[in-house]
Amino acid sequence: MAVDVLSTKDGHAKTAKSRAYASVWKTARTTGEVIEIGRSIPPDHPARPRQPELLSPRNVPKRKPGSPAGRIALLHAVAHIELNAVDLHWDIISRFAHVPMPMGFYDDWVKAADDEAKHFNLICDCLETMGSYYGALPAHDGMWRAASDTANDLQGRLAIVPMVLEARGLDVTPGMIEIFEKAGETAAVESLKTIYSEEVSHVAYGAKWFNFGCGRDNSDPKEVFHALVKRYFKGGLKPPFNEEKRADAGLPPDFYWPLAEELPAYVR
Ligand SMILES: [Fe+2]
Ligand SMILES: [Fe+2]
Repeated sequence: MAVDVLSTKDGHAKTAKSRAYASVWKTARTTGEVIEIGRSIPPDHPARPRQPELLSPRNVPKRKPGSPAGRIALLHAVAHIELNAVDLHWDIISRFAHVPMPMGFYDDWVKAADDEAKHFNLICDCLETMGSYYGALPAHDGMWRAASDTANDLQGRLAIVPMVLEARGLDVTPGMIEIFEKAGETAAVESLKTIYSEEVSHVAYGAKWFNFGCGRDNSDPKEVFHALVKRYFKGGLKPPFNEEKRADAGLPPDFYWPLAEELPAYVR
């Protein structure tokens, strides 16, 4: 199921499969059917649609959210992140199938993959209401980098994807909601609020399974987290942090503050 999602190019076809397989999984789990995790080889890079054109981050035009075109660009970037997140969650299931984990690990990532598929569809609907669509603008090509860098390291994957990248989503989403509130774009506001409330659980799944792995290795989660983020994530974490939502997700300040990048000279 995971490899099928990863190998599907079209965004809506990918999210339809993600949602359908999540429902198959949930039904099997509630009826007590025995599910074999099995083994699989995920593609190095997931299949993606022909559009959007993928550019290196520095070539993606900067977005100014003060105009309708800027807000479309912002939502387009969110759609791209959500589609990437669908692949990331199925990838962790497939790529680390050889690591013995409790069934709850798969429950969580299947649920997260279902959420991301829903998020992608919600944002695509907003784009269409605003006269655009996913694929209309270029998007950045760097997003699979974190997955490639941690392809052989489950603890590294958990540290970087849910606990750094998705936690960053918690930091920036309130500001985005405000932009769309000011512009009176109610559909976008509602969609972003749904995303914001559901993303907390993805960060929490990350923290839960990261702590589980450290406990199994008898290692200190905070120290391992710091070492892995320094190894796989270049450039330090960007404050301000959403300390409240990070706490909800089981990320205490002593995990992320020591990794914060220095404030740039012009704001010091
Ligand atoms: Fe999401
Ligand atoms: Fe997420």
